[in-house]
Amino acid sequence: MISIPRPQFVALVPGELTWHSPLKVRADEGLREVVEMFSEMVLSNIGWDLQWVDEGDDADIDLSLDATRGPESFALRVAQRAEVSVSDAAGAWYALQYLRNGCPPSTFGPHSSLAAWSVPCGNIVDSPRFAWRGVHLDVSRHFFSVSDVIRLMDLMSLHRLNHLHLHLNDDQGWRVEVPSWPRLTDIGSRRRSSPVGHESEGRDDGVAHEGFYSLSDIARLRVHAERRFITLVPEIDLPGHAQAALAAYPQFSNVSEPLEVWTRWGISENVLAASEEALEFAESVVCEVADLFPGSPFHIGGDECPTTQWETSEAAREEMKRRGMSDPRELQGLFTERLARALRERGHDVLAWDEVLDATVPEGTTIVAWRDEEKGVEAAQRGYDVVMAPMQWVYFDWLNSASPEEPVAIAPPPAVSSLRHVYDYSVVPEDMTEEMVGHVRGSQAQLWTEYIATRDHLDYMAFPRLCAFAEVVWGTAGSFEDFRRRLEIHVERLRALGVSFRPLDQET
Ligand code: ACM
Repeated sequence: MISIPRPQFVALVPGELTWHSPLKVRADEGLREVVEMFSEMVLSNIGWDLQWVDEGDDADIDLSLDATRGPESFALRVAQRAEVSVSDAAGAWYALQYLRNGCPPSTFGPHSSLAAWSVPCGNIVDSPRFAWRGVHLDVSRHFFSVSDVIRLMDLMSLHRLNHLHLHLNDDQGWRVEVPSWPRLTDIGSRRRSSPVGHESEGRDDGVAHEGFYSLSDIARLRVHAERRFITLVPEIDLPGHAQAALAAYPQFSNVSEPLEVWTRWGISENVLAASEEALEFAESVVCEVADLFPGSPFHIGGDECPTTQWETSEAAREEMKRRGMSDPRELQGLFTERLARALRERGHDVLAWDEVLDATVPEGTTIVAWRDEEKGVEAAQRGYDVVMAPMQWVYFDWLNSASPEEPVAIAPPPAVSSLRHVYDYSVVPEDMTEEMVGHVRGSQAQLWTEYIATRDHLDYMAFPRLCAFAEVVWGTAGSFEDFRRRLEIHVERLRALGVSFRPLDQET
């Protein structure tokens, strides 16, 4: 039975177990809801009924909890029935997803039917290597609807990816309602034009692009995330990447002329002023957004913040003098410190891009290492937890291949991240000591969307690279040739699900 990600341990014996509708299930208290969700998503789709039974002997699937197992794990013995022992609800979900792979790929599509469902006999023991198996989605450069994000969560869950990092603001658009600061969406969620072709060509489409998540949209996303065992990780990126916010609230800008939501890609020099008022604004906004995601880890951005305006601003220079600072980059540390403290007081785990390492970093901040693996090494060496997201490996806005046939992407070759390259990613850099490795929470694939305007194109850039990434971060990547063979079948599931994945070709 083909599974991506591949399980940690598989020992098959001859024979298979075959089920017919209704699927008879016994489950410990606490696991019944997962089975109901599975029934809603999978059984109803193939026209099967779920029948609860009390005795394990009568069951097709018997699910029990074993709290001694590590999180998200399961052990499965398939003989007269499927006996599943799980750590928690997520482990049960993944075990059921594993068993689902016994259904033909066509049944992954909507409204299919199935006469008999067979799974091979044997033992499977499975658990993830990393707790953080993330996908990042930039909804600022191009907005993706609630249903697009829900669909992405379903696809993530199929691959056991469990953190969805939403990049909710940037120079080119503000995408989440903040009731105390209504202009963020009234003004900031719409730009009047976007680049056509590559940014370097300097052409504009003159077509407005807009969208944002209302409070009820966020609530819907949260409910769905919970049902798919996915943790949402909202990001508000400040003090850089702030032009859409400054178009809405120019009083927090360093310049006197009005700004519009940016219509070009790149890094705008328009950053938040280094003033007490701007700090309070950032804190207020971040806390209000964080309150929409109770208990979620919160990403405070912090990347690519040009200091040009601070260097020439009289007010910023005064602020530096007052605080005894010699380097304008220390001003960024002020934002990091203030936002991290406020979030931690509200019970949020705090993450930031690796540039924050250039100033003082509050204790307990998790660094998302994106510029290269060495940033992750530096963070771990300094005692910070790390999510590894180096662009050279897991930036899926990079080209899939060097072919001139590829659609325009963020950068030309050699910025290529082929399927094989992603599959070769090791997550833990070789030069990490054991203690440093202990700081690696996992890894995350990035979908920046300057050059991804539609759901189909998002599919093309994400799949099948996310399949490779899922196996890497689950910790079972081995022979690429074996993975590639399994993928031939797995992409048929994606096809049935309507995913516009990049076709498999010779070089991948
Ligand atoms: C980033 O790619 N600027 C985090």
